[in-house]
Amino acid sequence: METLRLKVEAGELESGASRRAIARAAEILRGGGTVAFPTETVYGLGANALDEAAVAKIFAAKERPGWDPLIVHIGEYATLGRVAAEVNESAQRLIDAFWPGPLTLLLPRSAEIPEVVTAGLARVGVRMPAHPVAHALLLEAGIPVAAPSANRFGRISPTTAWDVAADLEGRIDAILDGGETTHGVESTVVDVRSDSCVIYRPGVITLEQLQAQCGGRAWLRDASIDEGHPEAADHPIGQNRPGGGSGMPAPGMGMRHYAPRSRLVLVEGFPPGLDVALMDEVNRLEEAGEVVGVMAVDGFMAALTLMRKKPFNLRGFTMGYDTVHVYHWGSWRNPEELARKLYAGLRWLDAAGVTVIVCPVPEPVGIGLAIRDRLVKAAGSQ
Ligand code: TXA
Ligand code: MG
Repeated sequence: METLRLKVEAGELESGASRRAIARAAEILRGGGTVAFPTETVYGLGANALDEAAVAKIFAAKERPGWDPLIVHIGEYATLGRVAAEVNESAQRLIDAFWPGPLTLLLPRSAEIPEVVTAGLARVGVRMPAHPVAHALLLEAGIPVAAPSANRFGRISPTTAWDVAADLEGRIDAILDGGETTHGVESTVVDVRSDSCVIYRPGVITLEQLQAQCGGRAWLRDASIDEGHPEAADHPIGQNRPGGGSGMPAPGMGMRHYAPRSRLVLVEGFPPGLDVALMDEVNRLEEAGEVVGVMAVDGFMAALTLMRKKPFNLRGFTMGYDTVHVYHWGSWRNPEELARKLYAGLRWLDAAGVTVIVCPVPEPVGIGLAIRDRLVKAAGSQ
C-alpha cells in the first residue's frame, strides 16, 4: 500500500493546510485505517480502538505479537467512559494531576473495547496525550484511538516522521508529520490501586511525581514476578509469551524491546571517571575489530578531543576514518535532553553501520529511571 504523508505545523494548527491534514488523518482513522501521529512522548501508530479489524492492522503492520496489549488514546474526558468501565478515586486523582500528559493508567476495560486491544486482559491502558497535534486529531476523529509506538515490534520507538517511515513505510495508510516529539521516551504505565501506584513501565511522569500523588506509596513493579505471585492472576495470557512458562513479567518487559540493531554495551559511573571508562571501552572494542558507536555526554566529548589520537566520525562530520562514530547525546546534568535524544542517537549510530554501541547509563532519578529501563532492556535482550 502507499503511505500518505500529511504535514502539520504544531505551532500553526489553525492554518488551512494543517486543518486539512488533520481532517484527512481523522477520516482515515474513522474509516478503519492506520495513521501514525506525533504525541509528546513518541510517534504512535493509531487505529479505531472500537474496531477489531482496524486494530488488527496495527498488529500486522508492526509484526507485533497478539499478546502485547495496546494503549488507548483519548482527546477528551467524555470519551473515557467508552474505554474504561470504572474510574476509582485514586485513578481520578492521577488523571487530575497528570492529564493531558504522558501517563497511561490501567483501568477496567469497558465492553465497547474489543479484547484484541488488551490482549485479553481485564484492564485497558488509557491516556490523554498533551501534544497539540495528537489532541487535535483525537478530537477531530471523535473515537478512542489504540496506538502503540509506531515502530516494528522490538525496535526503537520513533521520535520523527522520518523514523516512522523507516520502519513502516508501505505498511500503514498515513503518517501525520508534526515534527520531532517533545520528551523522546514513552509514557509511564501505572496500575493504580486504592492504596498504591504500581509502575509497570517507568516513563516521562517520574516515580517521584507519582510518590507525591500516591502518599509515598508508589513503586516499580518487579520484572521478575512470576505465576506464584498474586498479581499473576490478573494476567492469564502470560503462558503464551515467549521465554518460557512463568508468564509474567508484564507485556513489554523481559524480552527484546526498545533495541537498536547493533549490540549495546552499557557503562556505569559518574563523570569524570565515566569519561575514562567510556574511552577505555571504545579503545578495547576498536582494537577487537568492532566498528564502535558512542553515545557521548559532554565530559566525554572533551575527553575524546584530548585523548583520542586517531580521527573519528562525529555526527555531521565524517573525518575520513570510520571505526568510531560519535553521537553527541547531551549533558549528563540534563536528563530531559538525554531522554529526548536517546532514540534518535541509537538510530543514528545504527544507520552509521556500527557493530556495537557504547552507552553510559544515567542514574535512576527522575526521567533517568526511564532511560535506564530502556537501555537495560535493549542490552539485556541481545
Ligand atoms: O508514550 C507512549 O505510551 C506511546 C505513545 C504512542 O502513546 N505508546 C507506547 O505504546 O509506548 P507501546 O504499545 O509501544 O507500549 C505500551 C506498553 C505495552 O507494551 C505494555 O507493556 C503496556 O504498555 N500495556 C499496555 N496496556 C496494558 C495492559 N492492559 N496491561 C499491562 N500492560 C499494558
Ligand atoms: Mg513500543
